[in-house]
Amino acid sequence: LGESESVQGLSPWLLHPFDPGVGKSNLLSRFTRNEFSLESKSTIGVEFATKSLTVDSKVIKAQIWDTAGQERWLKELRDHRDPSIVVMFVGNKSDLRHLVAVSTEDGKSFAEKESLYLMETSALESTNVDNAFVEVLTQIY
Ligand code: GTP
Ligand code: MG
Repeated sequence: LGESESVQGLSPWLLHPFDPGVGKSNLLSRFTRNEFSLESKSTIGVEFATKSLTVDSKVIKAQIWDTAGQERWLKELRDHRDPSIVVMFVGNKSDLRHLVAVSTEDGKSFAEKESLYLMETSALESTNVDNAFVEVLTQIY
């Protein structure tokens, strides 16, 4: 998740993938509408949603952009790195314990190597979804 430039007090957010189907759109719908869909369609182009929340007793309106999962994003982010950009590494679908593709240990060492915040979430079970977004927002404000 990264922040692009602020527009008139709104904070645009990007949900960005390593792969399609990792659950970006469901993280967004869980966070903004408390909704989850088992049959969500692949995102085409970009979608967005907003949510107001309170961080350090300030009301922040987060505008979150959800992209399609094909781009090589991390390198691009790094290449255009602006110090105000906060990147978080999210391991979603933590409910699928028996199918784990990336161990927590491997996730942690990757996050350390890349200096990323790491959080394991489940959009299905609502685990850490709010925490992940609030953590990124708090890093910025
Ligand atoms: P693209 O838009 O194609 O890049 O996909 P995406 O990353 O937005 O994934 P999406 O949210 O559409 O979810 C893909 C599939 O994974 C859907 O069938 C979701 O129901 C499922 N899914 C999303 N989050 C979770 C989760 O936390 N746990 C489980 N078990 N399934 C999830
Ligand atoms: Mg999507």
